[in-house]
Amino acid sequence: MSAPLREATSLFQAAFASDPAVLASAPGRVNLLGEHTDYNGGPVLPMALQRRTVVAAAPGPEWQAVSDLSEMAASFDPAATRTGQWTDYLAAVAAELIASGVAVSPMRIAVASNLPVGAGLSSSAALCVAAARAMVQVSDRRFKPSALAETAFRAEHDRVGVRCGRMDQTIAAEAMAEHAMLFDTGSGRVEQLPMPWTVWLIETGVSRRLTEGAYNQRRAECDEALLLLQERWPGLRKIAALPAARLDSAMELLPPPLDRRVRHVVTETARTFAAAQALSQSDRAALGRLMIAGHMSLKNDYQSSCLEADSIVTAAQEAGADGARLTGAGWGGTVLMLADEVRAGEIIRAVRLDFRRRFSRSPVVWRARAGVGVRGHSL
Ligand code: GLA
Repeated sequence: MSAPLREATSLFQAAFASDPAVLASAPGRVNLLGEHTDYNGGPVLPMALQRRTVVAAAPGPEWQAVSDLSEMAASFDPAATRTGQWTDYLAAVAAELIASGVAVSPMRIAVASNLPVGAGLSSSAALCVAAARAMVQVSDRRFKPSALAETAFRAEHDRVGVRCGRMDQTIAAEAMAEHAMLFDTGSGRVEQLPMPWTVWLIETGVSRRLTEGAYNQRRAECDEALLLLQERWPGLRKIAALPAARLDSAMELLPPPLDRRVRHVVTETARTFAAAQALSQSDRAALGRLMIAGHMSLKNDYQSSCLEADSIVTAAQEAGADGARLTGAGWGGTVLMLADEVRAGEIIRAVRLDFRRRFSRSPVVWRARAGVGVRGHSL
């Protein structure tokens, strides 16, 4: 049993003096490329991590939950999903299942995870997908991974009110081990691509929460830009569908900063498809170059990076990494680095040294390989 599995089980036993009936887990993710494209109709290329969130559940007299971050059992109500407590995510998943016709009765729940929270690694999607899997099983039903992803997305988006796209829940539900997933949100097509390499995650230590304003502001800018583009091209349904050949005309049409936002989405769309091709050709150097270009676009055009991430990317590149970029929503979180396994130690040392010199602290660094999506566990 992995550490979070053991921990969720013993948390459950300690809080409720009984055994859980069901155990389910779902992974966090890093996105190799395709940032801020999932709500603009473009492609994303995430891979799941091996670090996971475990949900232990059993029927109970009322809705109650404990977690490794908050060991006091908290009661919650699926009818109230915006209380500002962590249990909102559980309440939202339960409410979403009830709305879709699953006969969900009150449960006791324990949650444990080895994913850092607020590091841009989608701990909330992991929680919602694992909770959906556990609640469905306690209710004697079975859902396909894509249905679990949809339930988790609607719970987080419609009920908790996080204006996320569909990337995080989709990878948490549908990931395959040793594969990255090309998910074209425009067509809904999902393709699993071999991802044989180790990546390094360098946490900036700058915490981010999706519910904060900057992400929603970018979404509003994209909505506004799309309306202006549609005045010129009425058939255009999403920014990512704008042909690259029309980018120059679009730039002339749009006031700043909408022009840069659109340039990011259109160029990132092309980079993501190119990155998928680099993966299918096992070309790590090409993928690395695309990651660097993607980071520059986030920094200059989408303006969603931060000083700490920019410094890590520059130091990694100078020390010989194939590529590095800020992954996830941005404005903090984690830098993803791709490098030769043999040289990685020396590159990380150079990155740490540079970071310590600039910010007087040391970043948390860990390695990861592509993990599996949601699954159930025997007790
Ligand atoms: C967050 C959202 C995703 C996606 C990324 C940015 O992780 O949850 O849907 O929009 O930001 O690429």
